[in-house]
Amino acid sequence: MPALQGKVAVVTGGTGGLGRAVSVALAGEGIACHVTYLTDAGRSALEQDAAAHPFAHPIEFHRVDVTDAAAVARFYQDLDQRGRPVDFLINLAGGFEMSPVEQTPVQTWEHLMSLNATSVFLNCREAVARMKPRRAGRIITVSAKAALDTPGQMSAYVASKAAVLALTQSLARELKDDGITVNCILPSVIDTPANRQAMPKSDPDRWVKPQQIAEAILFLLGDGASAITGAALPLYGRI
Ligand SMILES: NC(=O)c1ccc[n+]([C@@H]2O[C@H](COP(=O)([O-])OP(=O)(O)OC[C@H]3O[C@@H](n4cnc5c(N)ncnc54)[C@H](OP(=O)(O)O)[C@@H]3O)[C@@H](O)[C@H]2O)c1
Repeated sequence: MPALQGKVAVVTGGTGGLGRAVSVALAGEGIACHVTYLTDAGRSALEQDAAAHPFAHPIEFHRVDVTDAAAVARFYQDLDQRGRPVDFLINLAGGFEMSPVEQTPVQTWEHLMSLNATSVFLNCREAVARMKPRRAGRIITVSAKAALDTPGQMSAYVASKAAVLALTQSLARELKDDGITVNCILPSVIDTPANRQAMPKSDPDRWVKPQQIAEAILFLLGDGASAITGAALPLYGRI
């Protein structure tokens, strides 16, 4: 995919169970990846994965709380000053919690809305401001199968991921004449170490692999997907 070489990507949550595979796959295509993270443990894990690969552009790390509007704005200003206008925004930062509604503290609701939905809004706002004048850009968001299935016992999570889907489709309409595509992926259960630990009796062979999601994201970033915007792509594995 030569069209991807030398492009600049922001990957939020690029150190997570999904993010590590996505960051390595993008960097492997010659994309200059700017990965945001919070914890040193996450950063070290991706650094270890990346060490095995001679990337044309080494992955760069930025400690940014993606729920903090001022911190997100500073991060994009920092990229501007270094002459790195963002071509691709991959919003992977997110989290999951579940509990019956009557046992769900308002802090959990606010945390999940902030981490899963507000973070996407904040990053899209900064990235679009820089993509629009260049009339080019690709934005990927991560909702979840649960946003469509709306299972119980996880209302805050489901609402936050439904917000991501609605935000994606509204932005796709808003930006369709600006050369910017905005697409959403909907994983079911991803085969991550955290999920294997949390669900030891489940069969991980049925779960979608992080590398499979990375392949789908690469497709959405490539020339072959230039006409696709507003898509909600199911990545369910065999669930
Ligand atoms: N795992 C699944 O089965 C599944 C299913 C459907 C959808 N999804 C969605 O897919 C995405 C990735 O999931 P995952 O399993 O890879 O999650 P994960 O392993 O928990 O990774 C979360 C990522 O978000 C980062 N992060 C968390 N809070 C942050 C903050 N305030 N500011 C900046 N970064 C922050 C983490 O950084 P640190 O490591 O530094 O804390 C990490 O890189 C999420 O949006 C999730 O909701 C996951």
